[in-house]
Amino acid sequence: MNDSFSGVAVSSIAAASDADGSRNFAGDLGFLWDSWYPAIRSTAIRGRRLATAMLLEIPLVLGRTDEGKAFAMRDSCPHRGIPLSYGRFDGKAVECGYHGWKFEACTGRCVEIPSLTSQDKLKVERIFAGHFPCEERDGYVWVYMTQPGTRLPDPLPAAPVLSVFSESYKITHLDCELPSHVDQGIIGLMDPAHGPFVHKSWFWRSPHSIHAKEKQFEPIANGFRMSTHTPSANSAPYKLLKLMTGEGVSTTIDFVLPNLRTEITRSGKLWLSSRATVTPVRRDLCRIDFVAAYNLPIPVTIVRPFAKTFLRQDQETMIQQAEGLKYNPRLMLIDDADRQAKWYFALKASLLESRRTGEAMVHPMSGPVTLHWRS
Ligand code: FES
Ligand SMILES: [Fe+2]
Repeated sequence: MNDSFSGVAVSSIAAASDADGSRNFAGDLGFLWDSWYPAIRSTAIRGRRLATAMLLEIPLVLGRTDEGKAFAMRDSCPHRGIPLSYGRFDGKAVECGYHGWKFEACTGRCVEIPSLTSQDKLKVERIFAGHFPCEERDGYVWVYMTQPGTRLPDPLPAAPVLSVFSESYKITHLDCELPSHVDQGIIGLMDPAHGPFVHKSWFWRSPHSIHAKEKQFEPIANGFRMSTHTPSANSAPYKLLKLMTGEGVSTTIDFVLPNLRTEITRSGKLWLSSRATVTPVRRDLCRIDFVAAYNLPIPVTIVRPFAKTFLRQDQETMIQQAEGLKYNPRLMLIDDADRQAKWYFALKASLLESRRTGEAMVHPMSGPVTLHWRS
């Protein structure tokens, strides 16, 4: 089962300044290029409809060819810059609405310039509209964002895919926009200490349930893992799972650059696999895309309201935070509750450094670490 939700938008919120996370990367916007990002839901490109999205401040026009292949072009005609999304798409090529130049959708190659006469020597096929590698996974159109003016790596890394553990399962998607730099969105995602204050819901837990926790972490490629453990006994979903299978429950949570947090919970034959990504739209806007797949005998219509409440609670808090970040305050990261945020910044800096030098990436963690906090 697959369903869609139009998202919780904050586009109307006044733009926050670029004074938050991006300040750690003076001179650029603090985006991680050369990575896959989810641009839109697959369902947004039905038929010959063109859709638009923005990733890392690059406007995109997306669609699907008659053969069913998703494509992503820069939403800008190389002739005069008008968005190609105002043009027409015939299932193969996108025609610009201004002078009718036509571009093959998947390669961006120009195939026609109507104003040319037999006198003209211009090599039409040497003109390209900007275009990006594009793959569909788990109901999203993923786009590989290369920094303008740089080459694609060869081979291209594979687009992320959600782990599933049985042939049939239910899947649901949610998204919400946050009016902040992607770094703030990401450290919000991995922040263990806000739970008892922001996610106060009868179905999850009460603020009085705050207690000391000890969690083991280990380094993984481009990220870190909260090692497989039995989840917190005070949360209802885990109690329910245990009740259903009569077996132990285990959870593994990974964070991997540039922006992926995955959580896999298993108990006997039952499993729940989810992924949250925080994707930079602009320097002052990011979007959380949340997808959950599971084989629990619970309809999606029951699960969605809970997930939606969670996301909304985070979103409301981050809208409030953006108010404060407008004035460029000094911020702090503390041990151990903010250690994951520190790892994130260190991983990011380390990846950028390894790209700059061509040397192997140095992982900020040298081995397993145990963190303690109350939440
Ligand atoms: S601006 Fe697109 S064809 Fe001229
Ligand atoms: Fe949260």
